[in-house]
Amino acid sequence: MYLEQRRNHILEYLDRHETLSVAWLAGTFAVSKETIRSDLAALAGLGLIQRCHGGAIVLRRNLQARLISETGGNFEVLLQRLESQRLNGQRGKRKTQGRVCILGSFNVDIVAKVARFPRGGESLLALGSTLGPGGKGANQAMAASRTGARVHFVSKVGKDQFSQFAFDHLSASDIHSFKLYQSESEPTGNAIIYVSQQDGENMIAIYSGANQTLTDAEVAEMTHELSGADVLLLQLENNFSATLNAMKLANTLGVRVIMNPAPFSDDVLKCLQYVDVITPNETEASLLSGVEVTDLESAREAAQAIVRQGAKRVIITMSSRGALILDNGQFQHIPAFPALSVDTTGAGDAFNGAFAAALASGQAIAQAATYAAAFASLAVEREGASNMPDHPQVVARLAQR
Ligand code: RIB
Repeated sequence: MYLEQRRNHILEYLDRHETLSVAWLAGTFAVSKETIRSDLAALAGLGLIQRCHGGAIVLRRNLQARLISETGGNFEVLLQRLESQRLNGQRGKRKTQGRVCILGSFNVDIVAKVARFPRGGESLLALGSTLGPGGKGANQAMAASRTGARVHFVSKVGKDQFSQFAFDHLSASDIHSFKLYQSESEPTGNAIIYVSQQDGENMIAIYSGANQTLTDAEVAEMTHELSGADVLLLQLENNFSATLNAMKLANTLGVRVIMNPAPFSDDVLKCLQYVDVITPNETEASLLSGVEVTDLESAREAAQAIVRQGAKRVIITMSSRGALILDNGQFQHIPAFPALSVDTTGAGDAFNGAFAAALASGQAIAQAATYAAAFASLAVEREGASNMPDHPQVVARLAQR
């Protein structure tokens, strides 16, 4: 096959698949990876594609892509232009499978399994240790994709050995598409995690690194995927400016926003107006409301206080106590599904990812929260924050109730 022909085929494949790996293209055209890399470099040089970590993604020559370049990187101008486009009814959406866009962290999780948590100043022998993929954003993207949702994930890693690790992890997952940026200055985020064998409870210290360096331009590049999404899901492991911009973009595009305020930061108070559903756990709800959540009654008080601060809908996740919804002045309690808890790390991510996927597929808030509670109950029975169950398992658990 001639070079020109092969390059045209590559473009056709990319149109259909959005992302492809160098290895796949080399196998398909029976040429070396080096040849494919030079094809991609040439196509990128012509501005026809963008490249990312060993693969390629199409540079979409559509209205949004033009808009982004026309606005010269000015985020506020981009929002204004998109708003007028929306008012003119130019936004078309299909409605079959739920589409979820997630902007969030990727971390390398270094996990020590311990008989109990160590005390201050104590050295404790761990029973086992692993190094694996994590980060609330990536875990939530895994969860949503395992339910069958079409997920687009945006994240940022460093220029270190873990960037390839992140790329391989996301490539091997059910996540439909992702964009992984690389920071020049900060390393890939990491988390040091203890998991107690007593009850599967965890303690986590996070160094966010590259996750804190997302730029306005990188957020603006989400516009195309976001414009086709039903839901945008975010957490608080990225620089808040990026999170806030993504919310504003989603609002302008008419995409619902779910904010998982973890790890807690006061910043969340600045964005409640852009959020459709906020999903704190008990600790985050206590910090957000000033009401210590210890039971269902105090959770009700906390949820009301969070609404008074400006939130539209609240779901407080309370592990074994289930979840409490406050929607339009009405409370609804979703009881927890019984589970044999092995590792609670990522339980909140399981809930949020599954909830976003269920909401995106058209389920009502209580139905989506019930689905998410069943999903999370299965997640705590597995080791590893990113190790998520799948849709058939959730269906079986729901049927047990
Ligand atoms: O929610 C669990 C996650 O929190 C871990 O994967 C860790 O990376 C931190 O982001």
